Amino acid sequence: MRRTVIAGNWKMNMTPSQTKAFITELAPMVAGKDKCDIVLCVPFVDIATAVEAAKGSNIHIGAENVHFAESGAYTGEISAKMLCEIGAEYVIVGHSERRTYFGETDETVNLRTKAALAAGLKVILCLGEVKEQRLAGITDEIVSMQTKLDLAGVSAEELKNVIIAYEPVWAIGTGLTATPEQADETCGVIRKTIAALYGEAAAEQITIQYGGSMNDGNAKELLAKTHVDGGLIGGASLKTDKFTAIVNAAN
Ligand code: 13P
Repeated sequence: MRRTVIAGNWKMNMTPSQTKAFITELAPMVAGKDKCDIVLCVPFVDIATAVEAAKGSNIHIGAENVHFAESGAYTGEISAKMLCEIGAEYVIVGHSERRTYFGETDETVNLRTKAALAAGLKVILCLGEVKEQRLAGITDEIVSMQTKLDLAGVSAEELKNVIIAYEPVWAIGTGLTATPEQADETCGVIRKTIAALYGEAAAEQITIQYGGSMNDGNAKELLAKTHVDGGLIGGASLKTDKFTAIVNAAN
């Protein structure tokens, strides 16, 4: 059985003091909810505080990006080793906002993924089509291609530490959600691609999340779908009650 993973992506929100208050409030609300793994991916400067605040709870902490080099002249970047040492367990790679606003390509997403896995981090790999691609009827080709390019050179053993987040770009922060059927179908296409690359057993094992305006109102229906094994949640992960409601929907 594959694990359901409910992860928050805080994006550029929350200071360290707000992080401490948030996790202190959230921890008792999600205590004992063991039918899913709970992850908060937070800004770099919040990670240390988040790790400390989450100690002894079932909340795991991650980062929102990672650089692919081990070290060197990359002003403003953060390495996988730095993330590990500060206590991050997970890292988001390839979020559409990184691809759109910061010029990331499947090539750099692939390099970041491999660097994070080599350092022992669990990767939440984001991919998904833009609106024009869905309207043109090429969603399946796009997500299949991204899956292949982003995972190039990742071994079957390393794949065990990869979660894929299917995030249709048109659904992110827009209030538009993919229908449960659309989410299920496209997560299914990604699973098929994994089967072609790594075999049926690996495809059955891998957690594939849906992300894009998931909230306390639509989580249950989305999570009920066969191929949807969790959620990557933006806006609704910034409120303890809403995030807890999504965790409850997974439990
Ligand atoms: P929203 O939940 O705010 O649409 O964001 C989704 C997302 O981008 C998660 O990575």
